[in-house]
Amino acid sequence: MMHKAIAALLLSAGLAVARPLTARGLINDAAGQTYDYIVVGCGVSGLVVSSRLSENEDVTVLCLEAGSLDHYEDEIMIPYYIGLQPYGFYEWGIYTVPQTQLDGVSRHIPLGKGVGGGSLINGMVWNRGNQRSFNAWNDVGNSGWGWNALLPYFEKASKCILPLQSAGAEVQPELQNPAVHGTSGPVQVSYPNYYWPQTDNWFAALHELGIPTSAEPNEGLTAGGYFLPLDIDPNNQTRSDARRSYYDPNIARNNFNVQPNSQVTRILFEQGDQLTATGVEFATGPSSPRQTAYASREVILAAGAIHSPQLLELSGVGQASVLESVGVEVLENLPGVGNNLQDHGMIHLDYHYTNPAVMDISDFASNSTFNDEAAAEYYGSKTGPWTAKPSCAVAFPSLQQVTDDVESRLAAASSAPYNLPSTYDDEPTLQVGYERQIASVLDELAHEDIPAFENLNNNAGGLDLALMRPLSRGTTHITSIDPFASPNVDPRWLVHQFDYDVMILAMQVNQRILDTSAIQELGPSYDQVPWDASVDELGQILRSGIGTEYHYSCTTAMLPLELGGVVDGELRVYGTNNLRIVDTGIYPMVPGAHLQAVAYGVAEKAADLIKAAQ
Ligand SMILES: Cc1cc2nc3c(=O)[nH]c(=O)nc-3n(C[C@H](O)[C@H](O)[C@H](O)COP(=O)(O)OP(=O)(O)OC[C@H]3O[C@@H](n4cnc5c(N)ncnc54)[C@H](O)[C@@H]3O)c2cc1C
Ligand SMILES: *[C@@H]1O[C@H](CO)[C@@H](O)[C@H](O)[C@H]1NC(C)=O
Ligand SMILES: *[C@@H]1O[C@H](CO)[C@@H](O)[C@H](O)[C@H]1NC(C)=O
Repeated sequence: MMHKAIAALLLSAGLAVARPLTARGLINDAAGQTYDYIVVGCGVSGLVVSSRLSENEDVTVLCLEAGSLDHYEDEIMIPYYIGLQPYGFYEWGIYTVPQTQLDGVSRHIPLGKGVGGGSLINGMVWNRGNQRSFNAWNDVGNSGWGWNALLPYFEKASKCILPLQSAGAEVQPELQNPAVHGTSGPVQVSYPNYYWPQTDNWFAALHELGIPTSAEPNEGLTAGGYFLPLDIDPNNQTRSDARRSYYDPNIARNNFNVQPNSQVTRILFEQGDQLTATGVEFATGPSSPRQTAYASREVILAAGAIHSPQLLELSGVGQASVLESVGVEVLENLPGVGNNLQDHGMIHLDYHYTNPAVMDISDFASNSTFNDEAAAEYYGSKTGPWTAKPSCAVAFPSLQQVTDDVESRLAAASSAPYNLPSTYDDEPTLQVGYERQIASVLDELAHEDIPAFENLNNNAGGLDLALMRPLSRGTTHITSIDPFASPNVDPRWLVHQFDYDVMILAMQVNQRILDTSAIQELGPSYDQVPWDASVDELGQILRSGIGTEYHYSCTTAMLPLELGGVVDGELRVYGTNNLRIVDTGIYPMVPGAHLQAVAYGVAEKAADLIKAAQ
């Protein structure tokens, strides 16, 4: 591993200087203490909310994180390592239940674990989704949550430097709209310092098929080819995650306390007319003693869309039938908890390019000369292919851009069986809420600016596909009173026929993309998906290949109670006092985008809502 040696050498010479050695706000003695706010989970949303609340020096904030504080490891900081981090690296290692609607097999669903959460290990892609999808949040009963209300918070989270010169002709810098980007926020958003030449073939292929390139994807007005920025620091081409952007600059504050290696096991309630959250119980490991910390104002859940509902259920707030089945006393029957799970189902499809003249990310592993040169270039001048592991050149096509039969597809979708989870039986609020949601999503899809799926071109023949507007719904529920037992996560990808059909269509669009003269030049290969694969063959590949795009969300939805909601428009948990949720679980419907930019923006808005209530 030559490049590792170079890496270590150069790191100790250069990058390491920036590491903070000690930080006052990093603590391990929260037990028995009282804070104004306790934030549970210090991932993307937890670090945004806890750091923003600590701007007021008169309040004290504790953020408790199950994972550890990182050491600026190369695997986090350097884009090259995306996808190469070992299993369990700042990650929970949870699997789904067997996916019987597909092939009966369980899937790993990676989840970030550490101060920074998912932002430590994610693919760094930065986008938001369509304006209509956020206006739909507003229209399903959450006034104040449309695109216009969120845009200032999207901007507040980031400082966007666009475009770098190397970002290529397709970006059309003159057409980008700087007004939709932040100019002074904590997360550094920019482009890699390298442009793979075959990116041009990608956009040319889309154009051959009549799919246009969007000049400004983050404005939320278009579908088609996108050249997306990353959360990459333009000064040194390192990851600008939540730890770097919200923790490091603020942790010296006396009132901002972060305690890692502490998993919250229960929310403490005082029972009166309504439940009042008073603190949390936590532990440093399954067999460690349970400790407590108290919140005089609020407990704020930011443990992510899988663990926040788990904690509610462990604490007696959730669907009565679920709690009773595991023997948890029902303090508040809230049927929405852990239901309405949404994700962007994703399949990896590999048509690796064989043209020997084209270098790509697969050459990092197969050509040590290429890799060593790329490593040296990265450490020497912060340029070159190591900066550009995630491809910025992707596509988010609408149905209208790829098929003529949109109307009949949408009509079929509304009359197809819902195939809802069994936890929806005898729960009219969940059923009515679902009907409201799919009516809204189908209405979105009737517009040609709404991405139906994503195509993640990696410039090496990888054309992964992910479903952007799913109608399928899954669940995540506890099956044990042990907080260290993983919940049963059942994403139920593609259980709705419409979702399956859109993914088949997307696979057919891949075949059309490969057939273009622009991609034929690169020599695509067909060993995973045969060139002439029938719909049945595509279906088989789809069922065994589809898994997660890591966008778990909507499990503690912000919706009216009568539509199966868990939190109101101010993110307060129904039936409780002093308890809010601020993570991706609160989305009513998942937006058609990678989720981190949305998670930062939503948490920024949440912080302001909480401050306004002070
Ligand atoms: C492998 C991977 C790739 C991704 N790629 C992209 C991408 O390219 N672009 C993009 O936009 N998004 C991407 N995402 C998604 C994005 O990172 C997440 O949507 C985002 O991090 C969600 O923010 P969150 O605050 O809801 O949860 P998280 O960031 O996951 O934070 C939750 C935190 O809570 C902690 N926690 C959980 N339970 C407890 C408990 N009981 N007590 C204490 N702490 C607890 C967790 O350890 C974690 O640190 C990716 C995610 C993954 C996992
Ligand atoms: C990268 O540069 C930023 C300044 O933009 C700095 O804060 C950060 O510490 C640097 N990161 C590394 C790993 O050197
Ligand atoms: C390996 O990479 C080097 C440096 O980029 C290049 O010159 C060479 O042609 C590559 N070898 C193969 C077999 O692709």
